[in-house]
Amino acid sequence: MISPMRPVAKPDSGTISVEEEKLRQALVSRGLITADDWQQVRNAIEPGSGLGPILATLVHAGFLTSGQAQRVAVELPNLTAQLIPGYKLLDKIGQGSMGAVYKARQLSMDRIVAIKVLHQKFAANKEFLARFRREAHLAAKFNSNHIIQAIDVGQSGTINYFVMEYVEGVTIKEELEKGKIYDEAEAIDIVLQIARALQSAHRRNLIHRDIKPANIVITKDGTAKLADLGMARATTDEAHIEKERGLTMGTPHYMAPEQIRGKSDVDSRADMYSLGATLFHMVTGRPPFPYPTIDEVLRAHLKEELTPPDHINTKLSAGLGEVVEFMMAKSRKKRYPSPDELILDLECLQRDEPPRFARQHMAASMQAIEQADDEEEEEDSDQPQVVPLKWALILAGILAFSCVGNMFLLLRLAMR
Ligand SMILES: Nc1ncnc2c1ncn2[C@@H]1O[C@H](COP(=O)(O)OP(=O)(O)OP(=O)(O)O)[C@@H](O)[C@H]1O
Ligand SMILES: [Mg+2]
Repeated sequence: MISPMRPVAKPDSGTISVEEEKLRQALVSRGLITADDWQQVRNAIEPGSGLGPILATLVHAGFLTSGQAQRVAVELPNLTAQLIPGYKLLDKIGQGSMGAVYKARQLSMDRIVAIKVLHQKFAANKEFLARFRREAHLAAKFNSNHIIQAIDVGQSGTINYFVMEYVEGVTIKEELEKGKIYDEAEAIDIVLQIARALQSAHRRNLIHRDIKPANIVITKDGTAKLADLGMARATTDEAHIEKERGLTMGTPHYMAPEQIRGKSDVDSRADMYSLGATLFHMVTGRPPFPYPTIDEVLRAHLKEELTPPDHINTKLSAGLGEVVEFMMAKSRKKRYPSPDELILDLECLQRDEPPRFARQHMAASMQAIEQADDEEEEEDSDQPQVVPLKWALILAGILAFSCVGNMFLLLRLAMR
């Protein structure tokens, strides 16, 4: 009889793959090893070494004979395919920061779907899992042609998964990495589609929180689809930043200042900022603050004035520059209040007209600056000041114009 040599435990990295989980289930359910034995062996080897080293260690430690290990290895591909009840896993199609994405067949509907299998570190976080399920349920309840449909959410053993519509296409991130700079009309068309998706999402109180080029897929027929709506983000935005830190490619290039500050009441206006940063990257070929380190990028989102995109790419209209600036205002109070107004402005740009909301906002900001200047002057002077008639008339004109404009826009919104 072989006496098991217990391996020395190393801290668990928390990484998991469906293959490993299936191997664990196969060995434990057959009574060949206990769950504790598995954990000990799993902790003793380098994360991501694959199944071979795990089986070899199990044999070496005396938990399995080499014959048993060989039989399990032969059966494994078949077992792995049935890991999630009701779905047959096919190929691995991607890897993100929250887990791996698989192409799979949903057996009941006989259709191809995509399944995101969450990283194991989330399995222990009860609060996160509850939110993960809640948001997935909300997202699965509505559909839009511009959102990748959430289908199902569940748990099988230690695996937590999120099932969604499988979409064939190319992400904006992939296009940007190939060096594409979108022309203004194409970028507006894509952002308009995503703004319409956000309009339905925000009306249902669903916030995406992670809009970025990697989460927008363009299908062969040119339809833009927003991915990962209903995929709850890490519990705090600090954790979100940590998640981004962990990525080799990813940096928080599209993250709203209030998310960076870790505000707990992040709302739909954070999506507006991130969509603006995505649009900025699409039309200039670079993110808004293209610094090499994450800390510099974070600081710039918080403090640095944005270079308008039309100053970087002079082919762009000033109107598009104003829209991006309004979307990316540092203070969320100074952004488009909802996608409704953004949609109207993008439609103005499509008709070669100035963006009405962004313009009004600029006029109001100028007014505020002038008022502040006037107040400063008043404080500096001992003489009582009278508002010159010329400025009073201009101010009255701006107010009258914006009232009529607003009424017109509100009527249009109400009629939608
Ligand atoms: N519904 C889907 N249909 C087809 N492919 C998908 C689907 N969802 C994800 N993918 C593929 O899987 C890859 C990884 O997606 P994932 O969402 O995990 O990562 P990400 O968006 O790059 O980063 P993050 O984890 O921060 O969201 C995508 O780039 C895409 O190629
Ligand atoms: Mg994604």
